[in-house]
Amino acid sequence: MSFENKLAIVTGSYQGLGKGIAKEFAKNGSNLILVDIDEKVKTTQEELKEYGNTVEIIIGDVSQESTAKSVMNIVETKFTGLDILVNNAGIGGINKTLWELPSEEFDRVYSINLKSVFLFCKYAVPLMLKNNYGRIVNIASIAGKEGNPNASAYSATKAGVIGLTKSLGKELSKTEIRVNCITPAVVNTSILDEFTEEHINYMIEKIPIGRTGEIEEVANMVSWLSSEKCSFSTGAVFDISGGRATY
Ligand SMILES: NC(=O)c1ccc[n+]([C@@H]2O[C@H](COP(=O)([O-])OP(=O)(O)OC[C@H]3O[C@@H](n4cnc5c(N)ncnc54)[C@H](O)[C@@H]3O)[C@@H](O)[C@H]2O)c1
Repeated sequence: MSFENKLAIVTGSYQGLGKGIAKEFAKNGSNLILVDIDEKVKTTQEELKEYGNTVEIIIGDVSQESTAKSVMNIVETKFTGLDILVNNAGIGGINKTLWELPSEEFDRVYSINLKSVFLFCKYAVPLMLKNNYGRIVNIASIAGKEGNPNASAYSATKAGVIGLTKSLGKELSKTEIRVNCITPAVVNTSILDEFTEEHINYMIEKIPIGRTGEIEEVANMVSWLSSEKCSFSTGAVFDISGGRATY
């Protein structure tokens, strides 16, 4: 998969899936804008620069409109166009029944997991339309299809990401911009630190392959969806769940 002369934005790319995805792009020649709330994204920037491409960072909260605008401003001032957007930043939120969940926690999970995807797409699409080319990949979750207990905010926002992907895919279907999402089951990253052991075991028990997914496995799927080879799929939901998903 070659990403020579492409520019990719990856949100939530200090660590975990975002870093793995950004690394896959960097290894294959892409320039990058890494976006993360954690200043330690600078370490990821240094690491990925070693592949020889331009790697910019924006330290900011993806749920803020100003962050999305700042990122697109860098695209316009430093690059000739935007090819790839991966909306990856997300949080698990706290595990409680819906009726025990503080309303503010629902708002927090909604803003980071779903509103951010809206904002980044809203400001990225006009830039992609300028060159009539783009690939958008949103990281949803199996929880958005099935609904995990004690994760109502997380499940609802990931279902929202699936719906948003389908709508935007159709809106752009007459262009050369493709919009897809993936629905991983549990993958071995630090997002699991937010979940209780009981909740993690619940998730693994539901996976027929019987293990967690690995970052590289997800990065490989995102890489294909972000490439020119992904030409006849849009508004689609790609499973990567070790056999858990039945639809
Ligand atoms: N790991 C899994 O099992 C799993 C399964 C399904 C879906 N996902 C989704 O994959 C995505 C990445 O998850 P991960 O497991 O790599 O998580 P992670 O916690 O390892 O990494 C998330 C990254 O996002 C950043 N981030 C968090 N809030 C942010 C904000 N408000 N603004 C900017 N950056 C922010 C963090 O600093 C971190 O670098 C998430 O959307 C998650 O819901 C993960």
